[in-house]
Amino acid sequence: MSGIIEIEDLYYSYRDGTEALRGLSLYVDENERVALLGPNGAGKSTLLLHLNGINLPGQGVVRVLGKEINSKTEKWVRTKVGLVFQDPDDQVFSYTVHEDVAFGPRNMGLSPPEVEERVEQALEAVGMSNYAGHPPYHLSYGQKKRVAIAGVLAMGPPVIVLDEPMAYLDPRGKETLLEILNRLHKSGATIIIATHDVDFAAEWADRVVIIKDGRTLRQGDTSLLTDEEVVSEAHLRFPVVTQIFKRLGDSNTENLPLTVSGAVEAIRRLLSGGGCNNGN
Ligand SMILES: Nc1ncnc2c1ncn2[C@@H]1O[C@H](COP(=O)(O)OP(=O)(O)OP(=O)(O)O)[C@@H](O)[C@H]1O
Ligand SMILES: [Mg+2]
Repeated sequence: MSGIIEIEDLYYSYRDGTEALRGLSLYVDENERVALLGPNGAGKSTLLLHLNGINLPGQGVVRVLGKEINSKTEKWVRTKVGLVFQDPDDQVFSYTVHEDVAFGPRNMGLSPPEVEERVEQALEAVGMSNYAGHPPYHLSYGQKKRVAIAGVLAMGPPVIVLDEPMAYLDPRGKETLLEILNRLHKSGATIIIATHDVDFAAEWADRVVIIKDGRTLRQGDTSLLTDEEVVSEAHLRFPVVTQIFKRLGDSNTENLPLTVSGAVEAIRRLLSGGGCNNGN
């Protein structure tokens, strides 16, 4: 079996001795949409920093596109995995927004006109074209997050990893990002997102991976988000749609809807005299 990302028994400690990852394993298939959930401090960001070689394993193996990530492959992997950091202040640092987005494609050795085209398209996609000449440190947090996303889009990597991408985006910004993610997924990209937003995970993901104490607690399809034990252990909450159907008091709590379209179908069935349960 070979996936686009394979992590086996990964351990990682920070310099101060904090054991952030303790035997974590994860497998991601090509073109999958994976939502990574788990409590604050679970190890999500630490894990994601391993996917493009910023963190190198203390123990265990990280493979991307079949290649083991180590000091020899860390440069290579940065062209294959685009990572949007949790905190844009860790990522956006050039003198202008344009320079910041151009950094990645330029490092990939692309020609200046190609770089220019990619920067323009990426800034357009995140609605930041008017800020190309601005210094990033004057931008709002949400705007910086958009610039960081543009920086990854401009590189066009096959794997895109986003750490809390929705945080600080306004509702329209979230919609735009969702459209971008859908487009990328259709064009074959593999997308991994760390998030605390269970409603987003329920709507978007093919698979959810739940991390706690530096290990994979559970992984599976989005119905995991309606599992009482998992939700409690991972400090999550049920998706709003699921909460509504729970409150409606259906005695069978298996297979409650968790997406808006799942809810619409279930309500239609209820109105026509059937039960409210449904695959999602
Ligand atoms: N640079 C660092 N130095 C020391 N410890 C760190 C560092 N970064 C993170 N940690 C610790 O590593 C553990 C995992 O942190 P991490 O940031 O990966 O969690 P997370 O799941 O992303 O949390 P959140 O949901 O808050 O983003 C925590 O105990 C955290 O305090
Ligand atoms: Mg984090």
